[in-house]
Amino acid sequence: MNINYILFWLLLPYFILASSSSSSFCNHHDTSALLLFKNSFTLNTSLYYSFRYHYWWLDDSSFSSKTESWKNGTDCCEWEGVTCDTISGHVIGLDLSCSNLQGQLHPNSTIFSLRHLQQLNLAFNDFSGSSLSSAIGDLVNLMHLNLSLSGLIGDIPSTISHLSKLLSLDLSFNYDYNYQRMRVDPYTWKKLIQNATNLRELSFDGVDMSSIGESSLSLLTNLSSSLISLSLGDTKSQGNLSSDILSLPNLQILSLSGNEDLGG
Ligand SMILES: *[C@@H]1O[C@H](CO)[C@@H](O)[C@H](O)[C@H]1NC(C)=O
Ligand SMILES: *[C@@H]1O[C@H](CO)[C@@H](O)[C@H](O)[C@H]1NC(C)=O
Ligand SMILES: *[C@@H]1O[C@H](CO)[C@@H](O)[C@H](O)[C@H]1NC(C)=O
Ligand SMILES: *[C@@H]1O[C@H](CO)[C@@H](O)[C@H](O)[C@H]1NC(C)=O
Ligand SMILES: *[C@@H]1O[C@H](CO)[C@@H](O)[C@H](O)[C@H]1NC(C)=O
Ligand SMILES: *[C@@H]1O[C@H](CO)[C@@H](O)[C@H](O)[C@H]1NC(C)=O
Ligand SMILES: *[C@@H]1O[C@H](CO)[C@@H](O)[C@H](O)[C@H]1NC(C)=O
Repeated sequence: MNINYILFWLLLPYFILASSSSSSFCNHHDTSALLLFKNSFTLNTSLYYSFRYHYWWLDDSSFSSKTESWKNGTDCCEWEGVTCDTISGHVIGLDLSCSNLQGQLHPNSTIFSLRHLQQLNLAFNDFSGSSLSSAIGDLVNLMHLNLSLSGLIGDIPSTISHLSKLLSLDLSFNYDYNYQRMRVDPYTWKKLIQNATNLRELSFDGVDMSSIGESSLSLLTNLSSSLISLSLGDTKSQGNLSSDILSLPNLQILSLSGNEDLGG
């Protein structure tokens, strides 16, 4: 038997491994969507400083510019903050919390084309007073959405109620430099609570809920079997939180600080 022939079969597994690790596994569309998303922001490494008003323990070691490791031509499934489906190569998780991103989150942002996303965390970045686009409702597979402390203001789009698989939703502490907030209207609130029936964690601290009356608030009792954490501090809410909400059977965390009228 030829020695080259034997070597070939001995080394074959190595060649297969080597070639598969250098080719990109990540879905092609998702790769370019992520790169365009990255390029639409600047990196500002002093963001942590302005966030210390809410989280005094933050320092620059809590933050890292995760998108700096994202390079065209490499497998996006290996990029920091990115999780892929191991079979399809679609991006299903994106954790860019505390990533020093600064700039506008435009309605045409390519982030809204990542339809397979199940987890999206953009918390603790600075979207500089952008409003949340109604395109967020396209991400119907989301189970976890965290946009806490990211400088978003204005109306929460009604399409957020399309996210019927949500287990956790955190829109807390969104203000711009003029102290404008996010707002939720009664219609959007009602549709969200009625459609996202598996919600376990809801954080709306700082969201303007002044138009949400007592009857809309008490829709939360519909979530009684799932809700374990409810945080509605500083929401300007007028309605009394009825005793049936305060006694939700699975509620372990309830935060209402900063509301004059909440709690009856
Ligand atoms: C990535 O590289 C490819 C091939 O060089 C190029 O066609 C594409 O436009 C690049 N994508 C981005 C988002 O830069
Ligand atoms: C970084 O962000 C801070 C806080 O928003 C701002 O004051 C500063 O001008 C920004 N730096 C750059 C280089 O844009
Ligand atoms: C998205 O919209 C913004 C503002 O309207 C514009 O400046 C930008 O070029 C658009 N980006 C793309 C990729 O179309
Ligand atoms: C959202 O992300 C921030 C920053 O990582 C974290 O402190 C917060 O607990 C998260 N919210 C939820 C509901 O997990
Ligand atoms: C409820 O969620 C489903 C699934 O995403 C969606 O098709 C429907 O439009 C949503 N209903 C409302 C009122 O948002
Ligand atoms: C929510 O609760 C209200 C009042 O208890 C009830 O009328 C409504 O049918 C419930 N909706 C859902 C989707 O369970
Ligand atoms: C809330 O309930 C308390 C006690 O039940 C009552 O005194 C108060 O007037 C109520 N507030 C509103 C805004 O309904």
